[in-house]
Amino acid sequence: MTQQPATTPDSVEQTYDVFADAGATDALGGNIHVGYWDGDPGVPIAEATDRLTDLVAQRLALRPGLRLLDVGCGNGLPAVRIAGRHDVEVTGITVSRRQLATAEKEAAAHGAGRASFRYADAVDLPFEDGSFDGAFAIESLLHIPDQTAALAELRRVVRPGGLLVVADLCRRRPFTGADAALLDGMLGVYEIAGVNTPEEHRARLAEAGWRLTDMTDIGERVRPSYGHAAAAFRGLAASLDAAAAERMGEAADLMEAFGRHPDAGYVLMTARRP
Ligand SMILES: C[S@@+](CC[C@H](N)C(=O)[O-])C[C@H]1O[C@@H](n2cnc3c(N)ncnc32)[C@H](O)[C@@H]1O
Repeated sequence: MTQQPATTPDSVEQTYDVFADAGATDALGGNIHVGYWDGDPGVPIAEATDRLTDLVAQRLALRPGLRLLDVGCGNGLPAVRIAGRHDVEVTGITVSRRQLATAEKEAAAHGAGRASFRYADAVDLPFEDGSFDGAFAIESLLHIPDQTAALAELRRVVRPGGLLVVADLCRRRPFTGADAALLDGMLGVYEIAGVNTPEEHRARLAEAGWRLTDMTDIGERVRPSYGHAAAAFRGLAASLDAAAAERMGEAADLMEAFGRHPDAGYVLMTARRP
């Protein structure tokens, strides 16, 4: 694997700004995560991405009044949906100021005051110990170079007995040769710090003091997402200047190739704070 420049909160923010300028962070209907199909391939991508949010919510054992942290909240759609459907309070954090503004608008329009957002880095959270009953992280850990530090920080702010649900990409086995080049390309274009194997996910959680209760690879159920995203990115490229269109085309090609790779998995993990 070639050495990538370090991923930082600022580099993540800049990358999301570039994708947002091109319209790409709205390409899947506002959620910035994969969709989930459990049979009917005709389900539209925006509905399928909400289904993924609902799977995360199901795992959080929610009841009215619980306080949750959404780690890497994107445009705020998952936090607002979960807050509204389960009558819980969700605080979302992101390192993108533009996403923060979008999420606040989303909450004002649909959140009924139960979802709020702030700028914060997951490795240094501005919250007291045990402030939350639970936390979820949908495709955000992959941007963080020291995941153990972030997971330890989440453990600090979640009360004993609280749950953490993580949804994240995984590579089912280490990528070598041309596969490693594909993965390098993904890391570079999407400002990803790394894509873990299931064993690495398991190890990071354990190192940070979480007790894993379930890990399910739903990779085959989310696989159509990559093709949807690639098609949307190519559609956007048509209205961009030449340099931006080339970058968007490259992003689409990598997304599509990753989505076709048999070892491209996707894990849903539930862990409990002892
Ligand atoms: C792929 S997007 C997922 C957004 C959202 N969870 C969703 O599902 O729509 C990744 C998110 O992680 C956030 N993120 C990346 N690094 C972070 C960090 N160190 N601390 C907090 N958030 C971070 C990004 O700002 C972005 O909101």
